[in-house]
Amino acid sequence: PLADTAPDAEFAQKTALVTGAASGIGLEVARRLAAAGAAVVVADFNEQGAQDVARSLTEAGGRAAAVRVDVTDPESVRHAVDFTVETFGGLQLAVNNAGIAGASAPTGEYGVENWQRVIDTNLNGVFYSLRYELPQLLAAGGGAVVNMSSILGTNGFAGSAAYSAAKHAVVGLTKTAAVEYAARGVRVNAVAPGFIDTPLLKGDEAQRRALIALHPQGRLGTADEVADLTLFLLSDRASFINGSYHLVDGGYAA
Ligand code: NAI
Repeated sequence: PLADTAPDAEFAQKTALVTGAASGIGLEVARRLAAAGAAVVVADFNEQGAQDVARSLTEAGGRAAAVRVDVTDPESVRHAVDFTVETFGGLQLAVNNAGIAGASAPTGEYGVENWQRVIDTNLNGVFYSLRYELPQLLAAGGGAVVNMSSILGTNGFAGSAAYSAAKHAVVGLTKTAAVEYAARGVRVNAVAPGFIDTPLLKGDEAQRRALIALHPQGRLGTADEVADLTLFLLSDRASFINGSYHLVDGGYAA
């Protein structure tokens, strides 16, 4: 039948866990995965937001459930992974996307608590997620992971010491997990967006214009554009793409 040859037919057989899925990029990834037929667990610190997203996906005909997760807490991450397996019977796809921007300050003045909070969320959170997802991906016979890094995973950015350090570290974590699990059918890649128009970006009109000017395309990216690349990397069409860092940045790095 035609449905079996559709590009995303494979997703109908799979369950995805998306962290930070109540907003921005994670929300768009969850929406796309549900539309492609995957069962999706919408995991977020913002429990009400996660429930609202899961309900809207279900109402639109998708398969979705919400779970509260705080990615800075390994037990909470373990619970979200267990919930996914209990609810939908397995885990094949994971998008480790939850993240925060943190306050902006030069490194010599950077608040120690701010540093710890950003590293806890943007780096430790990705490790805890991989720590509990990978055994389930193996149990499912293989799968694919996307870790949300950033253009600041290869570039520095004034005021963003912790964020840039964490996003660089996510690339190392991605590469290591990829080489460890490649022979067992698990692919792990990093997506590196330029500045994307989501609630993560705060600041006034002048700051927004300064960010736009960093992108030769003359605009910020959209969550949809990041979701597109993420879904491709999760799909079997990306079957030989592993352990790499994928920019979606409107030419920022060029
Ligand atoms: P967003 O602020 O719209 O969404 C982030 C979501 O993560 C929120 O729903 C929030 O509740 C959740 N979250 C925050 N801390 C959490 C925690 N401890 N546990 C569980 N959930 C938590 O942000 P956006 O822009 O969608 O960001 C998603 C990812 O993309 C982040 O990792 C961010 O660093 C990355 N990114 C964003 C860029 C941008 O310009 N917006 C650029 C490059 C990367």
